[in-house]
Amino acid sequence: MKVCSMKLRNPTMLASGILGSTGASLKRVAERGAGAVVTKSIGMEPREGHKNPSVVELENGLLNSIGLANPGYKAFEEEIPVAKKGNVPVIASVFGSSAGEFAEVAKAMESYGCDAVELNLSCPNVEKAGAFFGKDAELSYAVVKAVKKAVGIPVIAKLTANVGDIVEIAKACEEAGCDAITAINTLRAMKIDIRAAKPILSTKFGGLSGTAIKPVAVRCVYEIASECSVDVIGCGGVMTGEDAVEFLMAGAKAVQIGTGVHFRGISIFDKVAKEIEEFMLKNGYGSVEELIGAALG
Ligand SMILES: Cc1cc2nc3c(=O)[nH]c(=O)nc-3n(C[C@H](O)[C@H](O)[C@H](O)COP(=O)(O)O)c2cc1C
Repeated sequence: MKVCSMKLRNPTMLASGILGSTGASLKRVAERGAGAVVTKSIGMEPREGHKNPSVVELENGLLNSIGLANPGYKAFEEEIPVAKKGNVPVIASVFGSSAGEFAEVAKAMESYGCDAVELNLSCPNVEKAGAFFGKDAELSYAVVKAVKKAVGIPVIAKLTANVGDIVEIAKACEEAGCDAITAINTLRAMKIDIRAAKPILSTKFGGLSGTAIKPVAVRCVYEIASECSVDVIGCGGVMTGEDAVEFLMAGAKAVQIGTGVHFRGISIFDKVAKEIEEFMLKNGYGSVEELIGAALG
């Protein structure tokens, strides 16, 4: 099967931010069954994470404020060739504080051998105070356009659902020439420690992921797949093959798994891929393509 011209052996991918900081961990995830792997989001310069606590386990997901901690793109020159030994497409997640920075990091990641870039649009823009790329159709358009000009590999725009109308942003990215859209990143949320009467995260607010956000993510995929013609990659709360089937039926061509790796371990990719096949067999679907968009209309 193919997602924006990349050949995948199954429709699962590692989501950005989980086990994606080194070539060795990306290779391990590939060897354990993922159809493709995505790096942690990489920027221009090394960046430290937020103070602890920065991850909290909730009953139906994770709340994290790890943010954009990363070693800077130059450190990935050595990591990507190692990741490629896993023999699945390696997608570089990139971020920047301007369209030019996104383009510079994407170009470097292409030269290191990445098969595609995924633009993490859930980050602030320094040129427009208080603005986030992914919340602004014009800024999202500018980033995709700049990166498309800079690289020849497929460009995937990863959207946030912390917006009024995700389709407006998706359409802007499509118009700028993106090859696929990943939906969604984490949802802004918080948890309060009622004994201490204080927010648990050092940053007060963080990003919610896992089972809790799946219905929002499925809705976003469905809306985008209904209105856009680029490939859509679903992300948010995939724990089982049936969760993946739900995303595929909503119009996704593949699914990414992040929090599921935390709760179920690295064998989740193989399990989800097998469970998708079992579902197809039991329910008379002859190929993954038949599942894609089956619920649209
Ligand atoms: C600990 C953690 C770190 C993350 N870091 C990134 C990141 O660097 N870049 C990014 O685009 N998304 C990041 N995400 C978001 C995930 O890629 C994914 O969009 C989100 O968690 C929903 O999918 P899930 O429910 O399968 O985890 C992170 C998520 C978690 C839980």
